Amino acid sequence: MNATNSQHIVEQTAAHVKQKLTGEGTGHDWWHIQRVRQMAIRIAKQENADPFRVELAALLHDIADWKFHGGDETAGPREARVWLEKIGVEKAVIDHVCEIIHDLSFKGAGVKTRMRTKEGMVVQDADRLDALGAIGIARAFAYGGHKGQEIYNPDILPTLHKSFEEYKNANGTTINHFHEKLLLLKNLMNTATARALAEERHAYMEAFLARFMREWGGKT
Ligand code: ADP
Ligand code: NI
Repeated sequence: MNATNSQHIVEQTAAHVKQKLTGEGTGHDWWHIQRVRQMAIRIAKQENADPFRVELAALLHDIADWKFHGGDETAGPREARVWLEKIGVEKAVIDHVCEIIHDLSFKGAGVKTRMRTKEGMVVQDADRLDALGAIGIARAFAYGGHKGQEIYNPDILPTLHKSFEEYKNANGTTINHFHEKLLLLKNLMNTATARALAEERHAYMEAFLARFMREWGGKT
């Protein structure tokens, strides 16, 4: 596939995803995709991953998330495949991109989600970085509000979910989500580039949580 052709494919895909996800209110909107795309391209350069496959997977990774499709984790890769076939992408690329989308999602603290290729690792890292730091905090509360969960409830303790089923059906608070997922991500980064960025974002979230608890207790 020549460069002009791949550029055209990326542009068509970006326009398609933008049209689908613009205005989405749970933190999986077009701007999340755009940030993940840019971060993935940046990490791909550092890690010598295939930029075309990385960019396509980043663009399509949330096209049909299981959280909004009755827990069906095959909806995303299926929809991505239909789209990529429609615009005439070669089969090897489609298979790889769909595999990445399938493997990507966080499924609970005790569930291993290992990416099978370097490109997958890069996209997973970029997606996870967007769940950290100031942006990560904003997205967590946006998603928590959408789900109707409480901001915080001292009577509900965090649980480290051992299975995808358990994680999917969890009914906790958004502050607990930091302990159940967000604070674990730093140590789950696949690439050195992402790990360094995650450190800083992690520290920012810890400072936020510490302050939240001080304010909760009326100490500050
Ligand atoms: P991924 O795309 O890695 O699977 P998710 O789709 O699970 O990530 O999460 C997308 C965003 O929504 C993240 O910022 C995440 O922290 C947030 N989120 C997911 N589940 C919850 C929850 N139960 N409470 C608060 N935020 C959540
Ligand atoms: Ni995402």
